[in-house]
Amino acid sequence: MKINGRRVWERIEELGRIGATEEGGVSRLAFSQEDRQATELVIEWMQAAGLQVRRDAAGNVFGRRPGEEAGPLVMTGSHLDSVASGGRFDGVLGVILALECLQVLEDNGCKTRLPIEMAVFAGEEGSRFPGCLLGSMAVTGLLPPDYPYQVRDAQGILLADALRQAGLEPERFGEAKRRGEDIKVFLEAHIEQASVLEQAGKPVGIVSAIAGPHQYHVTIRGRSGHAGATPMQGRADPMVAAAQVIQKVEELALTSKAGTRGTVGFLQAFPGGHNVIPAQVDFTIDWRGISEDERDAIAQETLDYLAQICKERGLTWTAEVTAHTAPVQIQPQVLEVLQTTAQRLGLDYHVLPSWAAHDAMIMSQICPVGMIFVRSQGGLSHCPEEFSTLEDITQGGDLLLHALLALAEPLS
Ligand code: HGY
Ligand code: MN
Ligand code: MN
Repeated sequence: MKINGRRVWERIEELGRIGATEEGGVSRLAFSQEDRQATELVIEWMQAAGLQVRRDAAGNVFGRRPGEEAGPLVMTGSHLDSVASGGRFDGVLGVILALECLQVLEDNGCKTRLPIEMAVFAGEEGSRFPGCLLGSMAVTGLLPPDYPYQVRDAQGILLADALRQAGLEPERFGEAKRRGEDIKVFLEAHIEQASVLEQAGKPVGIVSAIAGPHQYHVTIRGRSGHAGATPMQGRADPMVAAAQVIQKVEELALTSKAGTRGTVGFLQAFPGGHNVIPAQVDFTIDWRGISEDERDAIAQETLDYLAQICKERGLTWTAEVTAHTAPVQIQPQVLEVLQTTAQRLGLDYHVLPSWAAHDAMIMSQICPVGMIFVRSQGGLSHCPEEFSTLEDITQGGDLLLHALLALAEPLS
């Protein structure tokens, strides 16, 4: 049994036309019109594949193929939302391959002891509302039931209103929580988003660990003033302090023993005039670590440095934690199923950690998880140049298909 690579490719292409950007990527922010349109299209495909489809109050969509027994479920999926000016494969690959596997099992009349359910998780990227992995966090109960009333996007739109606009009931957000004992395992196929597989010359990866994100939103406040009339001596300029902290982030990451990674991806000055010393500067720090201890120690060292710099410069600061998730080690028995399946299929694979966060990282809070990577051309992702070949995707899809079958226990 093999997946139909052509059908997979056509669906990736069709989804790539929803929210398409001029540069050849996509922009489908959570619960945007484009995200809703892509979700509706996938729901149609899920229904056509004969799945029992339902949507929860957080916007997640599930499609179940019944087994001989009611449970526990073997689950697989990913997300459809993207970063602004993102790529066509991030998240989409895992959703389309999950759908394809269920379609192939149906086409072949394949019976399994356990049901297999695909998931389309909402708001994975955190590119519109603060905090990533919204949908899987709701499923695992990591967000409070009133969360939709707590966060707004950059235009001031409340998440609850965005959910309502998508035809959902935010007051029922808490009902998205599911029981871990109902899920045997969750598998996610995803593009690698880095170039380890390309350098190893392998089309497919089996993920051994997932780096955990520790993210902050930092605000530094100083004394605004005229860029020309204000002498350099005695300024309380938050932009210079931010620059020093950003430099420190890179220095600590480059010298870290366990390879912790630090990124400042967002910076905004207020009022933001070219001839005005800023009154306030906001920026984000995104730490990723396979070693939780090292990551959190470096994050604290950065905050201590921030406090020292602000004290010296007569500035005030706040730092709000916007994500703090432990790294995940994939359970040996899941690794074993993926590796023996890949060997049985004669696939050339490589075992590697994921430095990107994924819904599987969150699902690991309630059930065993596993991830399959497909080689990313040039290691590029979160940009229009993101690309994986049909050949590599097909190999990743066949591995997902046979791993799901093994885990759901075939009866025919
Ligand atoms: O941030 C991440 O690692 C994921 O792409 N949301
Ligand atoms: Mn992403
Ligand atoms: Mn992703």
